[in-house]
Amino acid sequence: ESAFRRSGSRSGHLLHRSFASAVTPERRVAILGAAGGIGQPLSLLMKLNPLVTHLSLYDIAGTPGVAADVSHINTLAEVKGFAAEEQLGQALEGADIVIIPAGVPRKPGMTRDDLFNINAGIVKSLCTAIAKYCPNAIVNMISNPVNSTVPIASEVFKKAGTYDEKKLFGVTTLDVVRAKTFYAGKAKVPVAEVNVPVVGGHAGITILPLFSQATPATNALGDEEIHALTKRTQDGGTEIVEAKAGKGSATLSMAYAGAIFADACLKGLNGVPDIVECSFVQSTVTELPFFASKVRLGKNGVEEVLGLGPLSEYEKRGLEALKPELMSSIEKGIKFAKAN
Ligand code: NAD
Ligand code: LMR
Repeated sequence: ESAFRRSGSRSGHLLHRSFASAVTPERRVAILGAAGGIGQPLSLLMKLNPLVTHLSLYDIAGTPGVAADVSHINTLAEVKGFAAEEQLGQALEGADIVIIPAGVPRKPGMTRDDLFNINAGIVKSLCTAIAKYCPNAIVNMISNPVNSTVPIASEVFKKAGTYDEKKLFGVTTLDVVRAKTFYAGKAKVPVAEVNVPVVGGHAGITILPLFSQATPATNALGDEEIHALTKRTQDGGTEIVEAKAGKGSATLSMAYAGAIFADACLKGLNGVPDIVECSFVQSTVTELPFFASKVRLGKNGVEEVLGLGPLSEYEKRGLEALKPELMSSIEKGIKFAKAN
């Protein structure tokens, strides 16, 4: 079958020999905004991912250099660069996953919502092209404000008649990455073993880490420490924006987080069982139409949106406190997409 590539059966290569030759599906990943601060290291990390067979890099500026550079790396993925709007269709054709880190980042003093006016239009036009050229692709939305750009994408897809709620993901993995790092540091547990669900949305108080469910569990942390960890996770983005002092926001840690999430989506598509990541998706976990929580990934994208599990009193208060802001960001995105 042409859509499949055989591997693991090359005789003479001891390392590749296996009893049943594994069949690895072709997987095409497109990155929109590939030459940006996130786009470049994310392109690198996706080029290193052995599950990717075709990597399509699109940006309105700087693509040829980035694509040529990444293409010299001797890994499987075939790299193609697409540099101008007329090439967006070609960039998207056949994509299984489209990752979107296109748009402007914050400067000190700004909220993510301050990016709405510019990024809403960018996301809308990119999603219009996705609906046309790869309507079945899984979309990983990185562009901020995620709490609004995901609802915008859903409305664009609805208008085009292509919306599949199982295939639209707001990438909140960086919040999980941060919560894990900060928890490991405070709880003095090995960071590689740590897991912390982060729910809600992706801005300020809408980011709700559930440290009561963190593993390995510890009783070494008191209320004040949990509060400080929660605040640091919620303000993690701002910490980077301030440290970069006008030169943008998180790019390297975001590329890492984006690569982890895309890898989880690829594994889900390939039928690997029990792939669970937190993501901002269409949801009935709360009364809000979109909400980040643990999601089981599968061959069609979302296999199951998992519930919140037991919350501490502190987390319950945080959950109620975040709902009005998250709802208004969701509504703002929907309103924009309906009006434009
Ligand atoms: P950047 O300015 O370095 O890169 C953005 C890239 O997007 C640029 O190369 C630009 O040419 C490109 N671009 C602009 N309009 C485009 C269009 N119409 N089509 C294709 N490409 C286009 O910014 P960055 O630091 O990479 O951040 C990108 C976005 O990601 C920002 O909105 C930022 O807030 C967001 N972000 C999200 C998270 C998250 O956790 N979800 C984390 C970090 C940053
Ligand atoms: C982050 O969390 O680092 C991103 O959303 C970028 C930002 O503006 O903080």
